[in-house]
Amino acid sequence: MSDRPDESLRWIEIPIALPPLGQTDVFAVGELELLLCNAEGTPYVVRDECPHVKASMKGGLIRGTILECPLHGGLMDLRDGSPRGLPIRRPGTCFPVRAEGDRWHVGLPD
Ligand code: FES
Repeated sequence: MSDRPDESLRWIEIPIALPPLGQTDVFAVGELELLLCNAEGTPYVVRDECPHVKASMKGGLIRGTILECPLHGGLMDLRDGSPRGLPIRRPGTCFPVRAEGDRWHVGLPD
């Protein structure tokens, strides 16, 4: 999560509520499927495509900042997408999140 504006990104209001602690929910911006994650109260947004076999990670559980894929149990760090447990070997795609007023926004590349 970043508090600094980054004008090279297109900031989009996240259209769904933050899921319960340790859980995920999905939303889309155009054709981009995104996963909103609640890691101990901090929101993270990643592409909803597991780096293992590109399955959705909706329903995965989060401990600390580590998301466990619901399909095969691979682990990914939500802070930077880095792989933290097999069978995930490649990084996932993360997007910055910031608060604007009482809403969360995600920064997407133009
Ligand atoms: S699809 Fe996520 S670990 Fe296999």
